[in-house]
Amino acid sequence: MHRRKFLQFLGGLGLTATFSGYGCVYTYKTAKQQHISKLSQIEYTGIAPNSLDDVVLSPELKYDLLISWNDPISKADKFGFDNDYLCIFKINDAANDLLLWVNHEYCDRFIMKTQAATKLDIEQEMYAVGGTIIRIKQNPESKKWSLVKNDAYNRRITALTPIPFADNIAIKGNKTAIGTLANCAGGKTPWNTLLTCEENYYLFVGETNYTTQPATHIDSDLGWEKFYPAHLPEHYGWVVEIDPYTGKAQKHTAMGRFAHECATTVLTKDGRCVVYTGDDNYFECLYKFIADKPGSLATGTLYVANLEKGEWIPLDYKNNPDLRAKFKTKLDMLVRTREAAHLVGGSKLDRPEDIEIHPFTNEVFVSLTNNSKNNNYHGAILKIVEQNNDHAALHFKHEYFLTGGEETGFSSPDNLIFDDHGNLWFTSDISGSAMKNSEYLPFKNNGLFMVPASGKNAGKVLQIASAPNNAEFTGPMFSPNYDTLFLSVQHPGENANTQTGYLSHWPRGKSAAPKPSVIAISLV
Ligand code: FEO
Ligand code: CA
Ligand code: CA
Repeated sequence: MHRRKFLQFLGGLGLTATFSGYGCVYTYKTAKQQHISKLSQIEYTGIAPNSLDDVVLSPELKYDLLISWNDPISKADKFGFDNDYLCIFKINDAANDLLLWVNHEYCDRFIMKTQAATKLDIEQEMYAVGGTIIRIKQNPESKKWSLVKNDAYNRRITALTPIPFADNIAIKGNKTAIGTLANCAGGKTPWNTLLTCEENYYLFVGETNYTTQPATHIDSDLGWEKFYPAHLPEHYGWVVEIDPYTGKAQKHTAMGRFAHECATTVLTKDGRCVVYTGDDNYFECLYKFIADKPGSLATGTLYVANLEKGEWIPLDYKNNPDLRAKFKTKLDMLVRTREAAHLVGGSKLDRPEDIEIHPFTNEVFVSLTNNSKNNNYHGAILKIVEQNNDHAALHFKHEYFLTGGEETGFSSPDNLIFDDHGNLWFTSDISGSAMKNSEYLPFKNNGLFMVPASGKNAGKVLQIASAPNNAEFTGPMFSPNYDTLFLSVQHPGENANTQTGYLSHWPRGKSAAPKPSVIAISLV
């Protein structure tokens, strides 16, 4: 190779060469030595799948623990359990002084010591889900992020916080629901508010079976409704909008009620908000909501995807006689969105989870995590291309961008995020119990993966990080300067019980109980 080209090649690898006669010595240069500050600029080495009970990272990276379950955030409040979606908001337009929103999705009774499920235990669980808002600052020298304890912005929103329905709507006679729960992924609106999605609400408060006459109640796993009957199933499964600066919250009914995974926003050409959202269950649908007016999600039209026809089909109560025959009112239809979506011909997919929009091409990327009931064990990332690249379009084309499996080296894609160079980062979601099944053995613990947009690994899948035992990485979110990746380490050691004892000891090690935590990943 020509000497100059050879040096450029080495430079791309972060290596320098010292020539001595015909031989040369390689020296690895860290990002700091190369003056690279962004996580998006690195050619990562990657790691092999592994089973260590730790956060294992590609050698270019390190992590700091930012906050863990039960850490005090103020004199009154503590950080919740099973952190998921993360979203950042600037304060004073600074890149190093942020509000961090954190979703809290679920409760683990063994780790939280709430197995007796008394009223007091359940109240503790109700406090552990919902969300947390904290102020975090980055030290200008060390670049380390830390919580600003007792800051006036720090607050909790829990399953006990009253939240009104938007647009003055009442459900079962209530204009206000008690709390938010099952907060999985979410989104950020163009007007700088937060969307948090109520996913598997039925595990907390049960569900109403509308196929019986009269309708009957299906009990939840956690049995909250025994002590709190006012937590009606119909009050959950919505997209909740929150102003992170004030904590003001409202539940939107216009985007439908189901196991909302995420709410990914983008604008139409005339400035209205479009929200893409998936219903994470076996054989459930992918939706798109187009708001009626700019700056609001209170009213609009909900569409369901039919992949075979390449059409977004409206849940148009007013003009669809089948919907009018089945549901008494438009609100009844929205409460039972799944039934309406199936009725109009929505495609039944393999667990649509997170959705991201490519920053340069506008294509819509959707994780279809897996569906063992459809013999799909490793899932795929679907790509939707809207007609004329217009998010208001009602026709689209689709293709599979990546398919999970041993050949591609990942299984069960879930949360997605693009960086500022168009590299796609994603996390995997193999459940704690499935990890022991033969199909999932080669993948070992869950991971964080990256598909570089350029460089020698362009288009390939690289594993960047591996999660502690029985944990899942969730909520990847870059800092404004792309020098930090905030990441949730959710449910380390899940599925433990008194017989097994703790199945993870992360992050404290030795014999300690595991603690769901948020970490900040940065360059070495
Ligand atoms: Fe909460 Fe579908 O992940
Ligand atoms: Ca998820
Ligand atoms: Ca998941």
